[in-house]
Amino acid sequence: MRRKFICGNWKMHKNREDAFKYIRDLSLFVKDVSDRDIVIAAPFTLLAVMKSETRNTNISIGAQNMHHEEQGAYTGEISVNMVKDYASYVILGHSERRKYFNESNDLINKKILLALKHNLKVIFCLGESQQERNENRTKNVVETQLRESLKDVSIEQIENVVIAYEPLWAIGTGNIATPEQAEEVHSFIRDLIRQLYNEDVAQKIRIIYGGSVNSNNASAILNKENIDGCLPGGASLDASEFSKIVKVQ
Ligand code: PGA
Repeated sequence: MRRKFICGNWKMHKNREDAFKYIRDLSLFVKDVSDRDIVIAAPFTLLAVMKSETRNTNISIGAQNMHHEEQGAYTGEISVNMVKDYASYVILGHSERRKYFNESNDLINKKILLALKHNLKVIFCLGESQQERNENRTKNVVETQLRESLKDVSIEQIENVVIAYEPLWAIGTGNIATPEQAEEVHSFIRDLIRQLYNEDVAQKIRIIYGGSVNSNNASAILNKENIDGCLPGGASLDASEFSKIVKVQ
């Protein structure tokens, strides 16, 4: 049995005061949950607060991005070592990074390799656009994203990767994939991992779903065989709503 993985992605929301209050509430709501991983991916400026406020809780912290170089003259950027001071996970390859910041599979691959080299766990996102789905290219797109972004990731390192299938047309639209649509792609991704690594890795790797997940629709998604968790954005902004998703059976 794969341990469920529930990660809230705050995106560019909340400040320090919001974060204090949220963690105070969430840590109470989920204090008895021990059978799944709970992660909040927060903006860089909140990581320090998040780390101190989640001490002695069952909540882990993630960042939402990092630079692909170890260090250097990159004004305004955040390095892997800076992230590592506070977070145990980093989201890489999110479609908003691909779309607004032109991140390619090649760049995402550099970031993934760097994060894993520094023992930072990776939540690697991939997914097709509406047009690509309409043109029946979903599997093709997902396969290319996966192969190119995971290039040179070793069999030891892949243990520290969670894959998030996030169809672009489902993100922030209220238009969640049906459990069947999601399951089809998840099982395809697991097959690819089997081909790239082996059966054991394929059985162990967690593949989570993201795109308009909320406390009402999470159960149907999470009960599919190859869906091991979820990555809610909007629905993670409220501690009570997010705690309901965490506890979904
Ligand atoms: P959403 O975002 O839940 O608001 O659709 C999900 C995501 O982008 O990770």
